Amino acid sequence: MPEEKENYNYEPFADTEDYKKVNGDIITSWVQILIDRGTEEIDKLLDIATGAGTMVQLFVSHLPAKWKQSLVMCLDQSSEALKLAQVKLETNIDKLKFINSPIEDLDLPDNSIDVAIWGNGIHYLNEESQINSLKRIKKALKPGGLFFFNTAFYEEARPTETLPFYRTQVKNAVQFLREKGIKREKVEKKAEAASFHPKSYYEDLVGKSGFKLVEAQVFAAHLTQEAWEHISAFQQYAAGALHGYPIEFASDAMKNAVGPSILIHGDKDKDGNLFVIRNWLAISAQA
Ligand SMILES: C[S@@+](CC[C@H](N)C(=O)[O-])C[C@H]1O[C@@H](n2cnc3c(N)ncnc32)[C@H](O)[C@@H]1O
Repeated sequence: MPEEKENYNYEPFADTEDYKKVNGDIITSWVQILIDRGTEEIDKLLDIATGAGTMVQLFVSHLPAKWKQSLVMCLDQSSEALKLAQVKLETNIDKLKFINSPIEDLDLPDNSIDVAIWGNGIHYLNEESQINSLKRIKKALKPGGLFFFNTAFYEEARPTETLPFYRTQVKNAVQFLREKGIKREKVEKKAEAASFHPKSYYEDLVGKSGFKLVEAQVFAAHLTQEAWEHISAFQQYAAGALHGYPIEFASDAMKNAVGPSILIHGDKDKDGNLFVIRNWLAISAQA
């Protein structure tokens, strides 16, 4: 996976109001679970797949103000991502640590973490790596510690009524590439992010890895044209949708194809802005 480039162009999507709204709503529900369980502080927090730090920044800002500051450990396999995260986080978080490693190699002392979060990244791994990683996370968590993750890349993420939006977008993007004379290259194995597992798969995954499932909730995000353009230009997304085309052209074509498709298939919000619904799955589990 081209991590350095990937992080570089995921950031515009992560910076949109739509992204921060849905992930903020999810985090509100996770923090409520912590409060309902009597948590009074998080001593050590592990943030997995930190990227440029959007998710962990949202999480920390949603914690009750009276809780003492946590030690926040940010893990990512991309050193480039961690550099971006450091700039973003060090102004608000006093106790920060960075771990440049794939989650599959997580090696923290047993029973040392209170809470772990993994925002928008679990779908990149295959099942074996997910189970291996979750087992390591469970070992690092204190008994009873909570683990939260979310993804918008699972089977029910795209409600049936929204499928014509994707079809028209891809059709337009392929047409755009054809007009430019860009051809499909040799097709290799499908990217893992392109294989969408059902909600039930993720519910079972936590059990298979030794966790107790606490809650699986679905959040419907109203994504506007701007958000769709940013996620469509994200190279890994474009590679999944337009498999086999040179990535920079696929990214451009997918972005340009949003407008005509959302015009036909989008719904209008109260201000007249077009949107298409995308579901996020949020899972809470206990070690
Ligand atoms: C889409 S970003 C998510 C960023 C942030 N957590 C958020 O929710 O906004 C995914 C991140 O996962 C990282 N990543 C992908 N596979 C990984 C792995 N196996 N171990 C650690 N990090 C990984 C990438 O480098 C990237 O920074």
